[in-house]
Amino acid sequence: MSKFALERLDTSHDRREFSSGLETVDRYLKETARGHTEKGVAITRVLVDHQAVAPKKILGYFTLTPCMATAASWEGSPKGLPKSPVGMVLLGRLAVDSTTQGQGLGGTLLALARQIAHDSLAATGGIGMVVDAAGEEIVAFYTHHGFRRTAPDSLRLFLPTAALV
Ligand SMILES: CC(C)(COP(=O)(O)OP(=O)(O)OC[C@H]1O[C@@H](n2cnc3c(N)ncnc32)[C@H](O)[C@@H]1OP(=O)(O)O)[C@@H](O)C(=O)NCCC(=O)NCCS
Repeated sequence: MSKFALERLDTSHDRREFSSGLETVDRYLKETARGHTEKGVAITRVLVDHQAVAPKKILGYFTLTPCMATAASWEGSPKGLPKSPVGMVLLGRLAVDSTTQGQGLGGTLLALARQIAHDSLAATGGIGMVVDAAGEEIVAFYTHHGFRRTAPDSLRLFLPTAALV
């Protein structure tokens, strides 16, 4: 991580050149992420070279936001949960620029997101992190990192708070 810095998205970052190959996550970064971060709707953090100067190349990013869901039946969720929705952190987006994919940055970003979610959940309550995989081919990336499907064939995956760090 020493080569890199994790920063909250702001105007010093070059959003226009970012391309992960997945149009929905690229468009979110270019068009929506800064407004959401400024308003506190969802917080986007970007990975940059620690020596980068503005406009800084974005190597990868993730977005976190609180959410509520009914989780009583999910593998790994605490026993005896209410049938009503409970709090958790949603990993809304995670992507690495196509020029730097396959070099461990996705794993690094996920570990950083997990640490932040863990600290937030430990302070405020909430049962874990949830993510909606962009497609079946991405499910393996998350199960490789310990997430489990919330139901058979579901693209929604879950990791309990205790397993985040
Ligand atoms: C998915 C993505 C974030 C992975 O980032 P990356 O930097 O290429 O992945 P890494 O090099 O960090 O790989 C981390 C580990 O996950 C594994 N992995 C990576 N992509 C994987 C995939 N699609 N399926 C299964 N495992 C995968 C790697 O083998 C590696 O394993 P290791 O820790 O044992 O070495 C990246 O490919 C990406 O941005 N894709 C486009 C956007 C996207 O689909 N985002 C997810 C939206 S839900």
